[in-house]
Amino acid sequence: MSQSIELWKKNLLGNYGVPPVAFSRGSGSRVWDETGTEYLDFASGIAVLSLGHAHPHWLKRVCEQAGKLSHCSNLFANENAPLVAERINRHMGGGKMFFCNSGAEANECQLKISRLWGRSRAGGEEGKIFKVVVCENAFHGRLFGTMAATPQEKIQNGFRPLLPGISVAKLNDIESFRAAIDEQTSAVLLEPVQGESGLTPATPEFLKALRALCDERKVLLMCDEIQCGIGRTGKLFGFEHAGIVPDCFSMAKGLGGGFPIGAVWMRDELADLFHAGSHGTTFGGNPMACAAALAVLETLDAENLIRHVEETAPAWREQLAKLVEEFPTVLEEVRGIGFMSGLKFREAPSAWIAKFREAGLLTVGAGNNVIRLLPPLNASVDELNESVAILRKVLSA
Ligand SMILES: Cc1ncc(COP(=O)(O)O)c(C=O)c1O
Repeated sequence: MSQSIELWKKNLLGNYGVPPVAFSRGSGSRVWDETGTEYLDFASGIAVLSLGHAHPHWLKRVCEQAGKLSHCSNLFANENAPLVAERINRHMGGGKMFFCNSGAEANECQLKISRLWGRSRAGGEEGKIFKVVVCENAFHGRLFGTMAATPQEKIQNGFRPLLPGISVAKLNDIESFRAAIDEQTSAVLLEPVQGESGLTPATPEFLKALRALCDERKVLLMCDEIQCGIGRTGKLFGFEHAGIVPDCFSMAKGLGGGFPIGAVWMRDELADLFHAGSHGTTFGGNPMACAAALAVLETLDAENLIRHVEETAPAWREQLAKLVEEFPTVLEEVRGIGFMSGLKFREAPSAWIAKFREAGLLTVGAGNNVIRLLPPLNASVDELNESVAILRKVLSA
């Protein structure tokens, strides 16, 4: 065991288990461990490194910002937060942004939006309309609200009592949502592509029907774009595949490209439910985090990366499908969409994840026996092909 891992084990909480490798540097789609071994990084820090490691534009913006102004709190404005917000608002055709520091925090903000919306629908009375419907197998975070909205025993075990008012319906089953929404329901919260539970996209037909149902019942449609957003599926946001617009949605991971940030976009009517003092966080919209986010959004445009994902993912996924044909006793199917793709194994794949890593490819496990392949959005066709070659070599051995 390396010295860093020994020290990690001795001094850090054991909530992540013992890490197998310690990394010391990265460049593009490559990362090197402490011993100098090189890996093709298709874990991307769990869908975070949208531009890969140390992209020159990202590096320039973050380093320059560090030398200029690292923090000033929200008692004062900074130059970068409005530029990031303006880009997203322009894309959405209006609305307002709230910045925070992580995905779970962004979803906590959405849960608070649902409370304010419920109170407004109830003529100003609190506690009458407050329930939120989430999907089976959803993952929305590990804070108290988001943990309650994550209906998985392994996440909730030991931390009860949970926030009340969360009910569960089946993804892609509109009748299940129709039955779950009652007169006390203020919002529905869902991932347009479920990530942690194994790369299951909501179908466009389902999302369209859900949008109509939410409109009919005056219930907010809140999306969680934390993993599937910022170009990963071949659109800026996952809900765009269905041609719908949610009332609000959360972002994090890929938005900062490696710098911690969370954010929520909401339409103007929802923004008007907040007033000075009704929500906040010290670091939200921090100039460095927003310099990183600005660099990510600028580079998505400058390098046409969303089109790159849209154009290159189908051939890569065809190659993954070939692997499923070649190794039918081990693999069951290709999952996901775009650069949020993966393979479903017939059995728990943790031993395979280790074998792929030993062969030089980093992947991430997900529920339901799935291994996620989450390349940086600027991964080249050669790198996509290389990932398949490594998978094939290990599966054949
Ligand atoms: C869809 C989704 N929502 C929320 C979260 C929580 O984000 P964070 O880990 O930044 O709190 C995650 C993290 O994996 C996620 O994938």
